[in-house]
Amino acid sequence: MDAADHRPLHELGRLPADGERLAATQPSVDTLRFLARRRSLVVKDICEPGPTAAELDDLLRVAVRVPDHGKLAPWRFIVIEGAARTRLGAVLEQAFVNRQPDAAPTTVALERARFERVPTIVVVVSAPVSTPKVPEWEQVLSAGAVCYQLLLAANAAGFAAQWLTEWYAYDRHVLAALGLVGGERVAGFLHIGSPEGDAEERRRPDARALTTRL
Ligand SMILES: Cc1cc2nc3c(=O)[nH]c(=O)nc-3n(C[C@H](O)[C@H](O)[C@H](O)COP(=O)(O)O)c2cc1C
Repeated sequence: MDAADHRPLHELGRLPADGERLAATQPSVDTLRFLARRRSLVVKDICEPGPTAAELDDLLRVAVRVPDHGKLAPWRFIVIEGAARTRLGAVLEQAFVNRQPDAAPTTVALERARFERVPTIVVVVSAPVSTPKVPEWEQVLSAGAVCYQLLLAANAAGFAAQWLTEWYAYDRHVLAALGLVGGERVAGFLHIGSPEGDAEERRRPDARALTTRL
């Protein structure tokens, strides 16, 4: 059986049309079990292959189906794949050296190779719209929801993924090279590929200890 057999994206079917009637709930033990057991995989455990162009298209179409106050779609995607990963590596290198001129060559080389570690990186860009109707905070939250929905969709489709920001999500030279403008910010670099090995549960917060009732 090849890896693609584990990837149910081809069964996704068409997405609902605007105004189409949908079930109000979709009870699914599989979904609950998935949410209760899902894990990100660290980048060193993510390898080739990444999603095909058609698969990534499906993942992104699922990712945008998030709560979005005012239907502003205040986010966008930048896909980094193939040779673009290497081209952007030169930008990372220069930005890193600007910050740390005395860094060891091995450290600089690691920074340069950041985008080459996985097959596909999707930059989820928070792009708030200026409107008195929806606070910017809510638009930024919606960008976080897109990141998480993409992470979940990638996992459910059989891909491993990790949501990272790192220093370069906040570096103005890197942001300029990515083409971010105005009030845009990186919500996440979603690293996507195939899993190399299994994940392991990490310590989780105690939801009860975080909850009060009024
Ligand atoms: C906005 C955001 C940014 C993150 N940036 C980093 C990062 O730069 N480096 C890192 O090691 N983990 C980062 N993480 C955490 C990873 O996504 C990590 O894999 C995750 O917390 C593991 O938890 P999970 O298995 O429940 O997904 C970030 C998480 C979020 C939500």
